[in-house]
Amino acid sequence: MLTAKPVTLCNVLLSLLLALTTSAAVVAVADGGVDQARPSRGAELLLPYKQQLQSALLGGMSQGVVEAIAACRLQAPAIAQSLSHNTVQLGRTSHRLRNPENSAPDWVAPLLQAYLATPADRAAKQVALDNNRSGYVEPIVLQPMCTACHGQAIAPEVAERLAALYPRDQAVGFMPGELRGVFWVEYAVEP
Ligand code: HEC
Repeated sequence: MLTAKPVTLCNVLLSLLLALTTSAAVVAVADGGVDQARPSRGAELLLPYKQQLQSALLGGMSQGVVEAIAACRLQAPAIAQSLSHNTVQLGRTSHRLRNPENSAPDWVAPLLQAYLATPADRAAKQVALDNNRSGYVEPIVLQPMCTACHGQAIAPEVAERLAALYPRDQAVGFMPGELRGVFWVEYAVEP
């Protein structure tokens, strides 16, 4: 069992990585006044965030699930911070947060609620914001491998570690295919 595990995990992670890259490449903005032919600026800005989160998770999981918790906890906020600056802010949020610090700007909540209300709609969304800024979100759908830390049957040592770090954790009990939250980015629109 111990020898079979890493192979299975690697396969899952690899297919996940490919799925992420593919969806990012073909993403089209469903609504909002955006040129459909051009890749969306929001999608471009989110891509390195998604890739770096993925490799942090991959790196952590290669050490073990409990070890990967530390990778998510420490690296995820640092990655978001490193890619945010004056004209760009980005992050990920959820209707069931693990870390309360992952709350998003106010404009994100109605978009997240719309995804929850319409499970068939998983297209990216674009909204115009005040001060020549634009907002863009992409849904985050739970993958099978995410259940190790967000699912219904979490290993006791993982559950114990999560409970110690996140006493108000709401991000457990998810099933694969369920909406886990959204990636969001807010940026200044170039004239
Ligand atoms: C090794 C355990 C682990 C795995 C596996 C894992 N996560 Fe997480 N996840 C965490 C931790 C820990 C946090 C809190 C990070 C922080 O403090 O910012 C988190 C936070 C999040 C958040 C931010 C919102 C919140 O609730 O704070 C999202 C969204 C998320 N995870 C989605 C996923 C998805 C999708 C997958 C699968 C691709 C996944 N996670 C796999 C441990 C994990």
